[in-house]
Amino acid sequence: MFAKVKQLIEEIEAASPKTKDELEQFRIQYLGSKNVIKPLFGEIKNVPNEQKKEYGQFVNQAKETAERKFAELQEALEAAAGDADADLLDLTRPGEPLELGSRHPIATTLNRIVSIFQRMGFTVAEGPDIEDDWHNFTAMNTPEDHPARDMQDTFYLQNSTEMLLRTHTSPVQARVMTSQQPPIRIIAPGRVYRNETISARSHAQFHQVEGLYVDEGVSFADMKQTLMYFAQEMFGTPKIRLRPSYFPFTEPSAEMDVWIGMDNEKNYRLSKGTGWLEILGCGMVDPKVLENCGIDPEKYSGFAFGMGIERQAMRLYDIHDIRLFFENDVRFLKQFSAVI
Ligand code: PHE
Repeated sequence: MFAKVKQLIEEIEAASPKTKDELEQFRIQYLGSKNVIKPLFGEIKNVPNEQKKEYGQFVNQAKETAERKFAELQEALEAAAGDADADLLDLTRPGEPLELGSRHPIATTLNRIVSIFQRMGFTVAEGPDIEDDWHNFTAMNTPEDHPARDMQDTFYLQNSTEMLLRTHTSPVQARVMTSQQPPIRIIAPGRVYRNETISARSHAQFHQVEGLYVDEGVSFADMKQTLMYFAQEMFGTPKIRLRPSYFPFTEPSAEMDVWIGMDNEKNYRLSKGTGWLEILGCGMVDPKVLENCGIDPEKYSGFAFGMGIERQAMRLYDIHDIRLFFENDVRFLKQFSAVI
């Protein structure tokens, strides 16, 4: 009996199925429901009592050998199949084309503006979209009864008279001035919100870039020179006009127009027949604002400005409807794939 089992184990060890079918034959023969090992267990009744235990273990060994061998053979066959696939790899095949996306026109315009001011030594500062009343209004010298504080113009957070969506990027001025002393030279790009009816020319959300320069002896002439340089770089002309204006946080205040001319219909329309395009609001930082933020107005002075991005992007790319910026229609965005 023992010799029979021994022969079987040798047979199993020597087996070498080459294909899947042959492996399946192996499985049926040694591990299937009618396998050849099973009857050997039955033979135990013909084995002398004192050898029964040893015989049982030996047959078990045959069964384990078959199981191990099967696992090994299966693995070897699968590996071989993998190698066969590898032979099909064609390294000369062209790769999948990588489709490039495009930058949003607001981002490109913003990047241009930021890089112009960076060349003049301004660094980028940021503040939160959800602001508190103090940074957005109080610190910026905007009186309690100012119409901008009205619910009609400002989005307040639900059940709050304190937290709001910032209506301009000017609160970043307060955030910077309360956390550092002059010299300060920053620009702050960001999204702002106003409770306005959405149309082709106005939106409830848009983007601004704020600028702030505070140091000893900063003058109105410094501001004008800075803005002239900006106009030259952005619009290709230093021809600007400062019109007297009013903002609670600057004194004196002005609005700046850039000369775009009227030599084509587009510029005529954009400038409403004047040749001038309004770009930004600016002025000397009101001493009260410096004081509110812990900066000595006797020692320091500064200028600030704030400009909308959308209008500049509209002029730059000849876009006539502000809503297009926020719809993310791929057919619109794809047109800017060549713009960096
Ligand atoms: N915050 C003003 C606005 O939103 C712009 C501005 C900024 C004006 C800084 C003067 C100084 O219209």
